[in-house]
Amino acid sequence: MEDSEGSVLNAPVEDNLGAGDHLSVLKGYGALGIVGAVIVAVLVPLLLSTVFLGKKRKQRGVPAQVAGEEGYAMRNARFTELIESPHKEATTVAAMFEQSCKKYAQNQFLGTRKLIGREFVTASNGKKFEKLHLGDYEWQTYRQVFDRACNFASGLIKLGHNVDTRAAIFADTHAEWFIAFQGCFRQNITVVTIYSSLGEDALIHSLNETQVSTLICDSKQLKNLAAISSSLNSIKNVIYFEDVGSSAAKECESTSNWTIASFSEVEKLGQESPVHPTLPSKNGVAVVMYTSGSTGLPKGVMITHGNIVATTAAVMTLIPSLGSTDAYLAYLPLAHVFELAAESVMMAAGCQIGYGSALTLTDTSNKIKKGTKGDVSVLKPTLMTTVPAIIDRIRDAVYKKVEEKGGIAKNLFDIGFKRRLAAVEGSWFGAWGLEKLFWEVVVFKVVRSGLGGHIRFMICGGAPLSADSQRFINICMGAPIGQAYGLTETFAGATFSEWDDTTVGRVGPPLPCCYIKLVSWKEGGYLASDKPMPRGEIVVGGPSVTAGYFKNQQKTDEVYKVDENGMRWFYTGDIGRFHPDGCLEIIDRKKDIVKLQHGEYISLGKVEATLITSNYVDNIMVFADPFHNYCVAVVVPVRQALEKWAQEAEIKYNDFSELCGKAEAVSEVQQSLAKAAKAGKLDKFELPGKIYLASDPWTPESGLVTAALKIKREQIKSKFRSEIEKLYA
Ligand SMILES: *[C@@H]1O[C@H](CO)[C@@H](O)[C@H](O)[C@H]1NC(C)=O
Ligand SMILES: *[C@@H]1O[C@H](CO)[C@@H](O)[C@H](O)[C@H]1NC(C)=O
Ligand SMILES: *[C@@H]1O[C@H](CO)[C@@H](O)[C@H](O)[C@H]1NC(C)=O
Repeated sequence: MEDSEGSVLNAPVEDNLGAGDHLSVLKGYGALGIVGAVIVAVLVPLLLSTVFLGKKRKQRGVPAQVAGEEGYAMRNARFTELIESPHKEATTVAAMFEQSCKKYAQNQFLGTRKLIGREFVTASNGKKFEKLHLGDYEWQTYRQVFDRACNFASGLIKLGHNVDTRAAIFADTHAEWFIAFQGCFRQNITVVTIYSSLGEDALIHSLNETQVSTLICDSKQLKNLAAISSSLNSIKNVIYFEDVGSSAAKECESTSNWTIASFSEVEKLGQESPVHPTLPSKNGVAVVMYTSGSTGLPKGVMITHGNIVATTAAVMTLIPSLGSTDAYLAYLPLAHVFELAAESVMMAAGCQIGYGSALTLTDTSNKIKKGTKGDVSVLKPTLMTTVPAIIDRIRDAVYKKVEEKGGIAKNLFDIGFKRRLAAVEGSWFGAWGLEKLFWEVVVFKVVRSGLGGHIRFMICGGAPLSADSQRFINICMGAPIGQAYGLTETFAGATFSEWDDTTVGRVGPPLPCCYIKLVSWKEGGYLASDKPMPRGEIVVGGPSVTAGYFKNQQKTDEVYKVDENGMRWFYTGDIGRFHPDGCLEIIDRKKDIVKLQHGEYISLGKVEATLITSNYVDNIMVFADPFHNYCVAVVVPVRQALEKWAQEAEIKYNDFSELCGKAEAVSEVQQSLAKAAKAGKLDKFELPGKIYLASDPWTPESGLVTAALKIKREQIKSKFRSEIEKLYA
């Protein structure tokens, strides 16, 4: 049955194009006609779809024989051998770039919106906000981009960059970022990337650790960099991306000993005196990517050219008919592996990449001048990457608009959404055919136009996507959403849910560039021999697995292993299980497992998932102190349920927080937890010995749960520190 659902999501672009004609047909029938059409739309699919009912779920991953530590390994079902590169000779990023630029020479490649105007508006509280008026995209062809990258590479050398040292890019996402990146590879220069939110200490540490001599940044950062120049001892050259009206370069020059040049000056320098390229090799380190460590200073992950081309090649096989007709909207940070991988894929496939930003995305985005257009409205992308937080924002905006409209519009939206949801979730009513078309035209076309109206595939990464959000995209955008699971250490590539898979909560089968192995973790109670689904720590092996942490052999040896065939494996610390069709589900994290005083291991995530089934529990965080033999929990009760009980038990209270503090209430909730624990077969030590009831719900705004509504352990722990201490006192 799952399989027949593929048709629901099939070719949404074509559906959209045909939709207008059918609308006029429906209009012709008048009100009665619409009712008739709905009846037909319900009955016809009902009859036809019975044909599909017997169909089995498609096999997406198959067990594989691999070397290294024992476990349960899976590979992508469509490829017997691991994919290493998109074409035979494209074994480095430099080669892949050159081939694409030759093959698609005249095609549009990188697009940037023309700045028409910039103004500041003052809000009622006196704060000033920048508003942009942006025009059409101005495009450069693959040929032009290639020439610019070559010029930049030559210019770097002419400027005095020593090719035996590294260059760093510390800038927002835009076309020149990508050009500088490719330029460095033309001279076999390793690029260091630093996530801009990491902060000053992390920046100083990263640049010093990798002994970067050329720093490439946005002009708006020059001032701050000059201020810390005495800590940036290795830096000799600074190249900045021009921004209109910035005069920071001169100031920066006078306060530091750096050679400072604008990006276009470097390009010009190179154009005037070309330098012969020195191209990298497959195992050379292309990027040292700094990501935040869970404690202390950031770690630099060494990503080779081979890693990047492997993930790129694998993802290319997963997006149906990817090619020159696709326009991709680039707006996530390029210093993050997810965006860098996505743009590599678009480049290799000959797509257009239009640059935008999170603040100028839609017509109603913060930085967009009222009455002018956001990036999606101008580009009309067919492909987009996204993270759960952004999807949630879009979803909330749509619901808000529907709510504002009210009346018939709201009713129609609600009914349409429910009908489509039932269809997508596998009840076959209206799974396809006229009814779908009806809702598309009457309700969802408007929603879709909010993202330009042409989206045919979305890729979500960064964090797990909630089922609700996934369904929202499926229905309102009429497009499949692929969930990618991967880490910087695997150059984003590990698993990827396929476009015709409509299930929720899973991250898909292994990418064709790697094996996924589940290795038993006995202490946590997760075994590769578990039935019906094998479980264990997720270990990724193959050409996308990176070379380790920069200047940190000890940490590298902890989480990377090389097997007897020379294949590298990365130990993710995430716990997963394989579904019978070969798809992976993430179920826990090793970090969330704590050893109690008497040696028992307690999986906080597992216990929470069991206890949240109690009717009284809205949210719960279990905490285990290794110096005690029991765990405790902070519980957000379901207000309605607890108040109902209080009324029946005749408990008097002034407000809800007072009720939460009452011993009777705590005891009532604790009893219900005990029941849930018993039903879920938890061990005695897994049931919280003491609990605290927190009266305020945990929302993303409070910072206690993520946008995907996963609890943020550290934040909750610090907010309820004194309460937790009392529970253990
Ligand atoms: C490229 O640079 C690396 C060091 O980062 C070096 O080991 C390698 O030999 C260089 N390749 C060429 C072709 O010069
Ligand atoms: C830079 O790194 C060196 C070691 O490579 C270290 O001795 C020095 O303290 C570091 N400087 C800063 C500013 O971090
Ligand atoms: C510039 O270089 C000189 C000598 O090389 C040194 O004394 C001075 O401290 C440097 N200034 C800064 C801001 O790094």
